[in-house]
Amino acid sequence: MAAPRTEGAEEMLSGSEPGAAPYGNFPNYSRFHPPEGRVRLLPPALLGRLFPAGPSPLLGLDVGCNSGELSVALYRHLLGLQENEASPDQPVVGKILNLLCCDIDAALIERAERCSPFPGSISYATLDVMDAGARELFLSAYLSRFSRSTFDIGFCMSVTMWIHLNHGDDGLVEFLTYLSSRCNYLLIEPQPWKCYRAAARRLRKLGRNDFDHFRSLAINGDMAERITQILTEDGAMELVCCFGSTSWDRSLLLFKSNRLTQKQL
Ligand SMILES: C[S@@+](CC[C@H](N)C(=O)[O-])C[C@H]1O[C@@H](n2cnc3c(N)ncnc32)[C@H](O)[C@@H]1O
Repeated sequence: MAAPRTEGAEEMLSGSEPGAAPYGNFPNYSRFHPPEGRVRLLPPALLGRLFPAGPSPLLGLDVGCNSGELSVALYRHLLGLQENEASPDQPVVGKILNLLCCDIDAALIERAERCSPFPGSISYATLDVMDAGARELFLSAYLSRFSRSTFDIGFCMSVTMWIHLNHGDDGLVEFLTYLSSRCNYLLIEPQPWKCYRAAARRLRKLGRNDFDHFRSLAINGDMAERITQILTEDGAMELVCCFGSTSWDRSLLLFKSNRLTQKQL
């Protein structure tokens, strides 16, 4: 089980210059927030429950994948593959999943590709998801290879704070609106507000004020609640459930697009 981590753990393990990770692009992220701490909260049979007669392959999008450790752990967990199993040929849960993982940091993506145990099923790409033109071109091209216009499931794990700090309230809303338009289900692990304060404090210690938006953010406080409001208030998505919280106090929220018919978990 993952050891509880403090807010300050990120900068301790992120290298000599914590401010050098302005997008949360920490090179050792999975060492201080281990994938197991998140995936163990998810039912192993989740894909079967969400997509009992679903399309094949299922298409997943992991936004802000860092160097891919969590992407691989999600892939294994959701397909019922053991740690040492490298072949998805006969997935235990009877599903085939193609996972597209993207991150703004090319060095992290290069490492993810180099270390990937599932190069046929998990693809990595350097992409700034806040670049609307590049994002649309790239994701549409990927989906069109499968004659699809949406991903079956999106993963947005510990990314919302970095989008919010770097792009402000409007950026966060635009990001979530885009994800809700492109993902039939969306699993989000929002950073709580105390992480924002810690990130801003780190920069102040370095004498930098890169997060210009921090003091003016009107979306603040209970970030899980605020993100739920943004995703649900115009009826685009509904909250299906919260799978609980990690030992470092981040909840895992599953949303469903209202484009889909009602399903019970
Ligand atoms: C804190 S890490 C989380 C990594 C992984 N999702 C996890 O939970 O283990 C946040 C990641 O989001 C990425 N990121 C931040 N802004 C981004 C953007 N605009 N486009 C793509 N990736 C972004 C960072 O580079 C970083 O790798």
